[in-house]
Parts: sequence; structure tokens; C-alpha cells
Amino acid sequence: MFKRSRAPKDVLAEVERREKEAKRLGLLPRMFRGGDFEVRRFAGPERWVQQLGGLRVTHLTDLHVGRVTPMDVQREAVAITNGQAADLVVLTGDFVCHSLNYLDELTDTLKGLEAPAIAVLGNHDYWAGGEEVQRALERAGVLVLRNEHTLLTLRGEKLQVVGLDDAYTGHADLRAATRGLRTDVPTLGLSHIGEEADALWDKGAALVLAGHTHAGQVTLAGLHELAVGKLAGHKYVHGIYGSRRAETAPAGALYVGAGVGAAVMPLRLGERARREVTSFELGHAPGTLDEHHDDQPALKGRAPTAATRARRAAAVVKKKEKRAAKNGGSTFRLDEK
Ligand SMILES: [Fe+2]
Repeated sequence: MFKRSRAPKDVLAEVERREKEAKRLGLLPRMFRGGDFEVRRFAGPERWVQQLGGLRVTHLTDLHVGRVTPMDVQREAVAITNGQAADLVVLTGDFVCHSLNYLDELTDTLKGLEAPAIAVLGNHDYWAGGEEVQRALERAGVLVLRNEHTLLTLRGEKLQVVGLDDAYTGHADLRAATRGLRTDVPTLGLSHIGEEADALWDKGAALVLAGHTHAGQVTLAGLHELAVGKLAGHKYVHGIYGSRRAETAPAGALYVGAGVGAAVMPLRLGERARREVTSFELGHAPGTLDEHHDDQPALKGRAPTAATRARRAAAVVKKKEKRAAKNGGSTFRLDEK
């Protein structure tokens, strides 16, 4: 089921027809059928209570539109998000899943968002084609920030959003992203990779939202902290880290979302691993809402070596060249499906 992309089109159509029928009859396990969303709610940083009367920002990440994640799941994510009646929706990367084949579906689904939306890209977007994914998002009316920031006025409140481009594939440029950033306005940071929050806090982004880890997808018995934390070296695996309290270090907080989709297998086991839509009530102090959990300490983590970073950046170039060669010089084919 997970390697369908290599199969002929008629076989894929037949597999999809059978899946639809199995789903209609209720024969698919819940994790394949979709649904099973967790809607979480958190307050924002304490220091923003004096600056904001109240804004709701809803966070989605790692949609991974493609064959591994049914489109029904994507549509459900958008419907749940609209139900949050957010002032702003933010999306932190990995919109696609190994190909550009579902860009029209991505655009159509995100066109359903009722609030203004801002995004940053993730490693999967760069592996498949960053420019093409950006254009698909923009066709849906989503503003894509690639190492830049924007100042919004939402219901009369000012909020600055800084979008750091994907650090995993070597596209993050903190200096470019934060050049000219105002220090007198609450600043929300977006980054696909959570570990970039440390640097964004230093630049004044008191809350950073991220994705990438999918919360490990299996969180039973702390397996996610073992796999994503110890083995993959992430300090931030899932949930809220850092500090939202004004007097407590570090000078900011980070939320790592569990995401909506998957890139390899759709399995999600454990309460923390469930597909997630999360809203942040900015202008409210931590502890004043019924929150899922409080600020967590970072894991030990392990920063990628220079060699690892170089290998990851080279992989993007190699994939781009491969796409260009396959498409006769062009990096984009509209008729790929
Ligand atoms: Fe992802």
C-alpha cells in the first residue's frame, strides 16, 4: 500500500477504488480512514497579555498531501480549523509527500480556509520542488514567508510574523528573516524545524510554531522521545517547550505540532501522536485556560554536524537536477498525474 507511487496508473486507480469501497463499508482501520483529530488549545506568552487584547492563531503542520494521507483527512483538518474561527491560520511546512502530483488538491483544499493564512516550507517541499509548492500555496491565497517577516493588523491588533525558511535542507537565513524586525510588536515565529526557536527567541519571537517530527507518530511508552529525541537528536519532539512566563528563561516558547498527514506510513499510535489542530489564545496568560500540558523542558538533543547539513543541502540540489532531467530541462510538469 505504501509503495503505490511506482505502480502503473490503472493499478493505482483500482487500489483507490477498492479503498474507497472498503472505507464506505467501514472496513478500514481508523488510522487509514482518517479522522481521529486532537484539537488542542494553549495560551500565548505572558509578556503579550499587556500588548494584545486577544487573538486566536490556529496552527496546522505537515499536511503531506498525497497518497499516504487521504484527502478526506485534509478536508477534515480545514473544516476543524474553520471551526476554530481563528484570526489567523499558520502552516509550518511539509505540504507534499514525495511528489508534486497533488498540488491542485493542495490548492483546492487550502482555498477552503476562512481566515488569512501564512506558511513556511518544509524539507519535503524542497525535496519535491519548493517554488512549485510555494506557487500552489499562493494560488490558495496563502502568504509564504521565506526568510522574511510581515506586520499584520488583525481586529485592530498588531502582530508581526517572521517566517524562517526550512533549516533541514539548508534554506534558513536567520539574518535575512529578522532584518528590520520591530521590537515593539508581539512577534510570532514560524519554522518547520523546532530547534530554530532558540535563535528566533533571541530575535524577539516570544512564541515559535513548528512541525517536522509528527510527534514521532508512535507515542506509546515514550517511544517518540526515544526515536525522535535520542535517535534523531531533536530537543523538541512534541508540544510546548521553553517558557511562556515573562520572568523565566528562556525568553520564548515553542510549540511542535503533531501534524495532519504522514510521508511514509499513516500509522499514528498514542494520544500525543494523533492528528492535530492547535489554537493559541494570544493575549491570555498561561494557566488561565484549560491547557493540554504546561511548558516542558527540552530534551538533550544533538545538533546536526556540518557534514550532515551539507549532505542534506546537496540532496535538494540532486533531486532538483533529477527532476529537471526527467522533465527535459523544466523542473515542473503540470501533467505529472
Ligand atoms: Fe513532515
